[in-house]
Amino acid sequence: MGIPLRGQEAWRGFPYAPIFASAVALVEQQQQRQQHRRSPAGHVAESSPSAPLRTVMLWRKVTLSAEAAEQAPAPTQLLTRRELLRSSSAIAGGGLLLLRLLGPAAPAALLAAPRTAMAAPAAGGPVVPSPAVTKALDQALARAINKGKAAVALRLAFHDAGTFSAASGDGGLNASIQYELDRPENFGLKRGWRIVREDLRGTPAEGVVTDADIVAAAGAFAVRLCGGPSVPLLLGRPVAPPGAADPPGRMPGEGFTAEQLKANFADKGFSVQEMVALSGAHTLGSKGFGDPTTFDNAYYSALLARPWTNASDPMASMVGLPSDHVLPDDPDCLPHIRRYADDQAAFFADFAAAYAKMTRLGVPGWA
Ligand code: HEM
Repeated sequence: MGIPLRGQEAWRGFPYAPIFASAVALVEQQQQRQQHRRSPAGHVAESSPSAPLRTVMLWRKVTLSAEAAEQAPAPTQLLTRRELLRSSSAIAGGGLLLLRLLGPAAPAALLAAPRTAMAAPAAGGPVVPSPAVTKALDQALARAINKGKAAVALRLAFHDAGTFSAASGDGGLNASIQYELDRPENFGLKRGWRIVREDLRGTPAEGVVTDADIVAAAGAFAVRLCGGPSVPLLLGRPVAPPGAADPPGRMPGEGFTAEQLKANFADKGFSVQEMVALSGAHTLGSKGFGDPTTFDNAYYSALLARPWTNASDPMASMVGLPSDHVLPDDPDCLPHIRRYADDQAAFFADFAAAYAKMTRLGVPGWA
């Protein structure tokens, strides 16, 4: 995994790579020696042995992956405040050691790089949550979301992200849904937004997870809670400024034709296959596609069975929305519907990928 750097150019053809290798060896030796040294309390000293090693390893990773990182900025590790402080002192210690090794020729970028590598989420790069943050967020979501609320949590994520338009270059998943709750298409989502207000105070996730992250994570949690796939998410999405709603008129309507649906999703950057996979979210909730709290591929079997054509059964004819009904009659959508009806694992894999993509919509630099 590479580490995104603002001054990556400074590392191109970096002449000190061999010195890094010796520095690593040196620090490894130092670590082995220090591992045997005990603190006065009788515990192994925790931070000093690993700090310089961690720094050098970090910098070595930087040099090895600078090229790959340039192609597609890779996520860095999201750290809690405590971890961040510990890492900063580790980096400071390791930095001094390296500067001593490199002498006065050390480029200025050396000093700047570790600080950038450890940038907080607000700096804009995608970050992989640390285990402590993941745990705190999951615990908060578990308090806020039960199976009865799973459908609304998932729909909330789609309606926050779904304002994105590639043509206009705005909208997306930024927690602006809180300023759009009175729009007709968002009816019922106030209940969903209340989930985001679940308190993270006092947990390691406080201050490092944004409201936009929580919207994304709540949808993913809802899917998992109901038996669907696990969707690993990056964190660090910026949130919309106070009061700044995304442009209206971007959400697909339930009366849309298949062509209109495809055009709407294409403007969000989704293929037909991704649109069909995401639509499988309607397996949750009260639209009649199987158990309302079980995330499975019942949606696709129902689309193929077309129960709404059965006028003699009023209950069956209420299954699904008009925008669901048009999908199996569309030649582009039908093969994907058949595949997902036959193969739940394929649906889960494609849904997870499309959902993760959905949660990156409109996040600058994350596309
Ligand atoms: C394809 C275009 C889509 C249209 C036209 C559409 C429209 C709707 C409508 C009208 C409802 C009923 C709301 C109500 O209960 O009154 C609904 C429910 C729902 N939608 Fe969609 N939707 C679409 C795609 C999606 C996507 C992509 C997702 C998520 C990835 C999603 C997630 C949900 C969920 C989970 C519910 C159930 C909500 C509940 O029962 O509380 N929808 N949708």
